[in-house]
Amino acid sequence: MTALNQNLLELRGLKKHYPIRAGVLRQAVGAVRALDGIDLNIRRGECLGLVGESGCGKTTTGKAVIRLHEPTAGQIRYHPSNGGGRQVVDLAALSRRALKRQGLRAKLQMVFQDPTTSLNPRMLVKNIVAEPLREQRRWGGRELEDRVLDLLKLVGLTRDHLLRYPHEFSGGQRQRIAVARAIATQPAFLVLDEPTSALDVSVQAQILNLLQDLRQRLGLTYLFVTHHLLVVKYISNRLAVMYLGQIVELAPTPRLFEHPAHPYTHALLSGIPVPEVKATRARIVLSGDVPDPAAPPAACRFHTRCPFVLPICREVMPAMEEVALGHWAACHRRDEVARLVEAKFG
Ligand SMILES: Nc1ncnc2c1ncn2[C@@H]1O[C@H](COP(=O)(O)OP(=O)(O)O)[C@@H](O)[C@H]1O
Ligand code: SF4
Ligand SMILES: [Mg+2]
Repeated sequence: MTALNQNLLELRGLKKHYPIRAGVLRQAVGAVRALDGIDLNIRRGECLGLVGESGCGKTTTGKAVIRLHEPTAGQIRYHPSNGGGRQVVDLAALSRRALKRQGLRAKLQMVFQDPTTSLNPRMLVKNIVAEPLREQRRWGGRELEDRVLDLLKLVGLTRDHLLRYPHEFSGGQRQRIAVARAIATQPAFLVLDEPTSALDVSVQAQILNLLQDLRQRLGLTYLFVTHHLLVVKYISNRLAVMYLGQIVELAPTPRLFEHPAHPYTHALLSGIPVPEVKATRARIVLSGDVPDPAAPPAACRFHTRCPFVLPICREVMPAMEEVALGHWAACHRRDEVARLVEAKFG
């Protein structure tokens, strides 16, 4: 059993801004601040859920953490092993070549939302799964074949599936193939980006069970990205709530469902059927759309939609403060929000 209290990754001031280009010279005229300065520890062996509405920066966070997209600023401190041995490395400071040479590229993998587009339709399953192993040049011949078969078995597929193409499989099976490919290089960390959102409801639970099982068997750490809180309720140890490129609340999963402290988290939970959340909970209704991440509101970014906004919220950015052990929220009114929700919407 892996200890849950050691950090595998520490994100410090992590940013990803996408330039907005215009004119014939394609000059940058602004930037989408998709990920705008997050500090977050990801503990070894945990499943950390990252939730928020579409467009709030979840996928960008996942891609920046594993350097699929280049961060604009900040640190990604990675602890390669438990305690002794190698020192912590800042993944953001390494060149892509150095990442690969030090074997770090292989340690950080991602499973995408839609296996129909993430798997090459012209490749046989055995080659899809073998490809990352071939890139490592550590595997060949019979050993490689055995390894590919072992991986397929790990995700619930068989030898019969080796010589088929992705289109011959159901959505759930295709996601199994994507998972086999992601774990091929024995990674320490997986970003799971809405891994069940493109699947039929009936197979979503099977894929969640598989991911849960693999995490335990292989000692993996997950960042599980989803816009759907219920999907991560049972699989994640902790939840981070994101709004417009920033983390606004972080708590152990049961605590977040029982005692949310941020008005935005209250609003997200309000969209969930009653038996799954506290039946007595008042439902908070938000007005307005998510603002443009190229021009986010000043100070508290949620102030344009928050039912409890005060003048200070438009002037001073609320910092993440601990409201209970391991439970953090960035809201000036964090200690009174539960009462305010009850009074206004109860
Ligand atoms: N490659 C890109 N180029 C420009 N803007 C992008 C790119 N990827 C995402 N964005 C923008 O960044 C913001 C966050 O997107 P994303 O991380 O995909 O959010 P989420 O996964 O939470 O839906 C959105 O406004 C989106 O349009
Ligand atoms: S800081 Fe103010 S505007 Fe922001 S969430 Fe809290 S009460 Fe609402
Ligand atoms: Mg996304």
